Amino acid sequence: MTRDRLYRITRPEAAGRAAGTLRGVHHAMVAAGIGIMLADTEATMRRTYDTGLDLAFHFVCLFFAAEYAARLFAAPSAPGEHHAKWRSRLAWALSLGGVFDLLGALPGLLDILFGRRYASLFGFVWVFKLVRYSPGLQSLRRVVGDARHALLSVLLGFGIVLLAAASLAYLFERRAQPDVFGSIPAALWWAIATLTTTGYGDVVPHTIAGRMLAGVVMVGGILVFALWAGILATGYAEEMRRRAFLRTWDLVAKVPFFHDVGAAIIAEVTRLLRPREFPARGFIMRRGEPGDCMYFIVSGEVEVRLRPEPVRLKAGDFFGEMALLSGSPRSASVVAVTPCTLLSLDIVHFRELLGRQPELAKAIRDEAQRRRERDPGEAPPRLRAGAVRRAGQPQSEPSEAGGS
Ligand code: CMP
Repeated sequence: MTRDRLYRITRPEAAGRAAGTLRGVHHAMVAAGIGIMLADTEATMRRTYDTGLDLAFHFVCLFFAAEYAARLFAAPSAPGEHHAKWRSRLAWALSLGGVFDLLGALPGLLDILFGRRYASLFGFVWVFKLVRYSPGLQSLRRVVGDARHALLSVLLGFGIVLLAAASLAYLFERRAQPDVFGSIPAALWWAIATLTTTGYGDVVPHTIAGRMLAGVVMVGGILVFALWAGILATGYAEEMRRRAFLRTWDLVAKVPFFHDVGAAIIAEVTRLLRPREFPARGFIMRRGEPGDCMYFIVSGEVEVRLRPEPVRLKAGDFFGEMALLSGSPRSASVVAVTPCTLLSLDIVHFRELLGRQPELAKAIRDEAQRRRERDPGEAPPRLRAGAVRRAGQPQSEPSEAGGS
């Protein structure tokens, strides 16, 4: 196996059978390692399965040591690496992923030096190896990184309130309870248990001033955590929006219709489009329904049910524009022939886009005109009361074949 291929199949997002199998084995090893660590602390399990646990532990350690060696070896194949091989490997070894992989190989080393009993206690580090495979946790890391200034400010505020609360509690309570409020460090325990709203109740103020202070500190604690939660939630929502934008951007770039427009227009279009997936044989729209959006096909094939001959549209084509342009109901039913990835543009954004991008508007109008001339057919039916089911909902029951 070449180094490049090894690098490719060890990437967490790699597709293909080899990469999938490797990922499966990796996750199974993490689960087995954690299981062995838990079993090792249960006296009955240890007595009954000692040899089996021993063998399994050695095997898991060997796997993670081999994984570390493989990733280190493959590091120079990372995209953009054009340093000497040893420098690429050193850079990977010092990266967060490299450090955690080294920690993953640590129980194996401890096993050789001190024996399994001691080494298996460090098996918990293996759970961190799953972080690489979790996009959600990767996002969280970025969210915390981006919001670090705001989070640190809140942390500083927390520290200030904590110290002030401990000092005041010492002032109010030191005579009434010298054993637990006899010094500021001792009062800090009460302050932290109260400010974090944990409230163990092992230490409580007895004086009136002390109790009033406790009330203020409790409310302060709720505010601090509300701020933390708000900062993280906003950061998370922004990160999700960013990821959705990037995904839509990738999809927009695959639609030939947008190939010739500039980056500024693509950015605008990306903001307005929503990716949608439809299963094979699912109805995307039905003849006679009101039109509330149009679609661009990213992948897959759809059938426009026209009479006498249906028309097939594939990646790069668009449909559903005629109802939006004319205000009349859908002129034909459209069904997914294969599983499809589409980009939908709702009517409000359609009008907004057409108003701002005359070239796009002209291309869409010209195509609609061509379709109408090519297939004038019968007039679309008048809107029925029951036809207001939201167009674009996947519906798999095959029914009427419309035609224009
Ligand atoms: P609309 O009328 O909104 O809904 C049905 C869609 O089918 C229609 O918009 C067009 O996008 C598409 N369509 C209608 N006639 C044709 C045709 N002759 N060729 C390709 N697509 C068509």
